[in-house]
Amino acid sequence: MIEVIKQTPCLGAEIRGVDLAARLDATTFDAILRAFDDHGVIFFRGQNLNPAAQIAFSRRFGDLEPHVRVEHRLADYPEILVLSNILDASGRAIGAQDAGRMWHSDESYKRAPARATMLYSIEVPVDNGVPKGNTCFANVAAAYDALSPAVKAKIEHLTNVHSYADYRRRNRAAQLAEQAQGKRAVEEHMPDAERLQTVPDIDVPIVRVHPFTGRKCLFVNEAHTSRITQLTAEESTELLRALYEHIVRPDFLYSHAWQAGDLLMWDNCTVQHRATFDYELPLRRLMHRTTVRGPEMF
Ligand code: OGA
Ligand code: MN
Repeated sequence: MIEVIKQTPCLGAEIRGVDLAARLDATTFDAILRAFDDHGVIFFRGQNLNPAAQIAFSRRFGDLEPHVRVEHRLADYPEILVLSNILDASGRAIGAQDAGRMWHSDESYKRAPARATMLYSIEVPVDNGVPKGNTCFANVAAAYDALSPAVKAKIEHLTNVHSYADYRRRNRAAQLAEQAQGKRAVEEHMPDAERLQTVPDIDVPIVRVHPFTGRKCLFVNEAHTSRITQLTAEESTELLRALYEHIVRPDFLYSHAWQAGDLLMWDNCTVQHRATFDYELPLRRLMHRTTVRGPEMF
């Protein structure tokens, strides 16, 4: 029997008693799936997963989606995206260094947004015994439920444009601003026009119904939302600011302190997430990410 240990009243659970490298029987897998739907973020400590084992476990949740950042896919395993600040012999980072500086859900700019993302931690930066580079999560189903009836009515029929192209431009501007202040310099491979054509802008509801839990979830995020379609620019900016502030209310949050060997997975409809860049080389971080495609929603 697996053990499910809740992390906060609102989201997150540790699951004990499972070796993910072994083939899981149907009962165990169903219990994991139920915990995933119930808690939005689940994790397993002390795992030992090679790329093939991570892919095999991830596939049980659905088809995998190779990431649009082709330059950071793992050689021989295109389903795995490498996240890392480690430099190779030529001084280039061996993985994406800047995944998730703004709150977002993965691939929200696609017709079939990601159902789940799995991160397997291989190296975790630790400073004087304190783990760095936490990943923070916000429960946007709970955030929706807590809105006033007036705000719920106001946003019910509104849509917003999710734009990968706009996100990458804004993210690059933020990197350059940081660099100008003498902070972390990040090398960025900007996608060319041809690559961007594979992820065109998309106009989607501000509130989406979770395909498996049936809960209503807020579907605006700092990284990928460009604007609310039906409002003026000023009204859109104002409403987005209010929603973003609401989403990160402390009672909707869980911050994951990593240990090497964690396999953590989140539901991209129920939660949004953000990375914490509070570490620098020589502190190293290395993660392998897999992404499970969700049903076509839009
Ligand atoms: C991601 C992401 C955050 C992190 O991989 O999608 O946002 O803490 N990562 O690495
Ligand atoms: Mn992400």
